[in-house]
Amino acid sequence: MSLEPRSFMKKMISRTNFSDEDRSLLNANTEWGTSIASEMADHFYTYLGRDEEMSAILNETEGRIHRLRETFVDWFNEMFTGMDAWGDAYAERRWKIGLIHVRIGIGPQHVVPAMAVVVEKLGQKALADGKGEAVRTALAKIAMIDLTFIEQAYIEVSSNAVLQETGWTEKLFRRLITTGANTM
Ligand code: HEM
Repeated sequence: MSLEPRSFMKKMISRTNFSDEDRSLLNANTEWGTSIASEMADHFYTYLGRDEEMSAILNETEGRIHRLRETFVDWFNEMFTGMDAWGDAYAERRWKIGLIHVRIGIGPQHVVPAMAVVVEKLGQKALADGKGEAVRTALAKIAMIDLTFIEQAYIEVSSNAVLQETGWTEKLFRRLITTGANTM
């Protein structure tokens, strides 16, 4: 069980139908993205700060929240530029972001609602600024691809840790999961 970011990216692009038109639209709106990135970061960190658990994580170390604002803005802009046309560099970067969240102990229950806030606020802003429905759709697709990387990292890291620690085969592990799910 080991995820290969580049082929995973290709699979997600195909699965979400993140088309050439979507990519062109995002590229064409890069400047707009940059102009609203800081406002979106405000929404994002206000939302995280309202949650006791997430606020504690954000303020755990000195300067973390400040650093995070900057990394959020970079991440946000990369959704529009696509870095290398949503290629290998983009995939590697998203995978690394996923791994960082797993290391800090941020799970699906934190990340999914947080990304929902980004999509919601971004959608509202797009409407207010007179962007078409197609821009909103393209952004929602790339946000979901990014979210999938973070979610998948959680599964991959947990599974690999169990396999390495126990020496179980992947087949046995999958069978145990199925059995466990049946008993819940
Ligand atoms: C929409 C979902 C999210 C996105 C797109 C996102 C984005 C990012 C990015 C780009 C980084 C920097 C990675 C690097 O250093 O290379 C990061 C790190 C981090 N994120 Fe998130 N994040 C998300 C959700 C969350 C949530 C829900 C929390 C919960 C509190 C969180 C807390 C953190 C923390 C603590 C770090 C590490 C900061 C440090 O360097 O000390 N993130 N995130």
